[in-house]
Amino acid sequence: DPIAARVAEILAAHQGLEGPLLPILHALQAAFGHVPQEALPLIAKNLNLSRAEVHGVMSFYHDFRAAPAGRHVLKLCRAEACQAMGAEKLAAHARTSLGIEWHETTRDGAVTLEPVFCLGLCACAPAALMDGKVVGRVDEARFDALVAEVRA
Ligand code: FES
Repeated sequence: DPIAARVAEILAAHQGLEGPLLPILHALQAAFGHVPQEALPLIAKNLNLSRAEVHGVMSFYHDFRAAPAGRHVLKLCRAEACQAMGAEKLAAHARTSLGIEWHETTRDGAVTLEPVFCLGLCACAPAALMDGKVVGRVDEARFDALVAEVRA
């Protein structure tokens, strides 16, 4: 099993490190683009933690993905300044029009939707990040255009 072998390598590379769980999760995500489900029991065993503990840490940090991302990752800011400018309404539009919830990927594999908390673009709220590129003043029309562009 190539996944288990790679996980074992990563665990070995972090042996004896203090507070190894986060670095291990980061290394796994860098290697696979997400943290494979089958890695969780291996990590738990290696670090003497319960699976629930590993799972708890993973879901606490929004950066870790439990499944592979789509071809494009769209992050919408949900922090205060953006909320004041309609980010919740935009998020509702995003979820409805894409037909997914946060952290999910559209059925065609094109877009993964993720929340983010302040992109430092508060003056241009509501803000978004498409494949690492910031976009300001995202209204519903601009959102639709952004998605249409990456799907084209
Ligand atoms: Fe959204 Fe700062 S609150 S960019």
